Amino acid sequence: MSGTPTPFPAVENTLEVRHLQTRFFTREGVLPAVEDVSLTLARGRVLSLVGESGSGKSVTGFSIMGLVDAPGRVVGGEILFRGKNLVGLRGGGDAVSARQPRCHSVPEDPMSTLNPVQRVDAQMIEAVRAHRRASRRAAREQAAEALAAMGIANPEERLRAYPHQLSGGMRQRIAIAIAMLHKPDLIIADEPTTALDVTIQVQILSELQTLVRTQGTSLIWITHDLSVVAGLADDIAVMYAGRIVEQGTVDAVLDHPQHPIPPA
Ligand SMILES: Nc1ncnc2c1ncn2[C@@H]1O[C@H](COP(=O)(O)OP(=O)(O)O)[C@@H](O)[C@H]1O
Ligand SMILES: [Mg+2]
Repeated sequence: MSGTPTPFPAVENTLEVRHLQTRFFTREGVLPAVEDVSLTLARGRVLSLVGESGSGKSVTGFSIMGLVDAPGRVVGGEILFRGKNLVGLRGGGDAVSARQPRCHSVPEDPMSTLNPVQRVDAQMIEAVRAHRRASRRAAREQAAEALAAMGIANPEERLRAYPHQLSGGMRQRIAIAIAMLHKPDLIIADEPTTALDVTIQVQILSELQTLVRTQGTSLIWITHDLSVVAGLADDIAVMYAGRIVEQGTVDAVLDHPQHPIPPA
């Protein structure tokens, strides 16, 4: 090493969450939704956050995205995103803008991000041009490529469709393709395929996995169904009652569980 100081610390991990605590201050009392969550995610890796319903998976995702609303609040810990701590940033708006466009979420219901009265091409062109100068034509070409990368056979036909003309699986593929067009460093997908057939869930995750590897995007895939992620994630973190009770590479967690994996 030379003696020249580096102006910024070298950032190896896209995300490091340390001892995150998020609580809901309700009339009935304080609800510790996330009690102690620590996660590390490197570039291009897929982490699956698994656990039974109510274990705190979504609240963990919302906390990382800066989307916890009153009466909820992140009360402790650190969220280092590309080396910068996001916890304690003043104002929800600032906290969210510090994450954008580098952090994107894909919700369970694709219709909550797709515009029902706009054709798919218009929505995708907008996503491309939100971050880069591109002609409509070039942006449309990128949109078609993004659909093909998500395993969509007839991109041209799909681009001309309105969301309601497409199947649930197709809509979710499109929502994911739009998230990828923003070229984020991190995508948090919260049970995005739960409503779909298991074979389709595995297909979609496998296409997304290839894509994130190529683009160096880190992915957190939230699910209550371990079977969907078993063969596809790099790492697994199992949540139970607001805590991570088991964490490691897929092989380590599945071969040598330290803790009984809670039923879905
Ligand atoms: N807006 C809210 N107000 C009060 N409690 C909430 C709210 N959102 C989530 N919770 C509570 O936080 C805990 C974790 O919820 P959640 O993260 O949604 O679980 P999961 O995604 O694992 O099913 C649950 O006990 C839930 O009731
Ligand atoms: Mg949830």
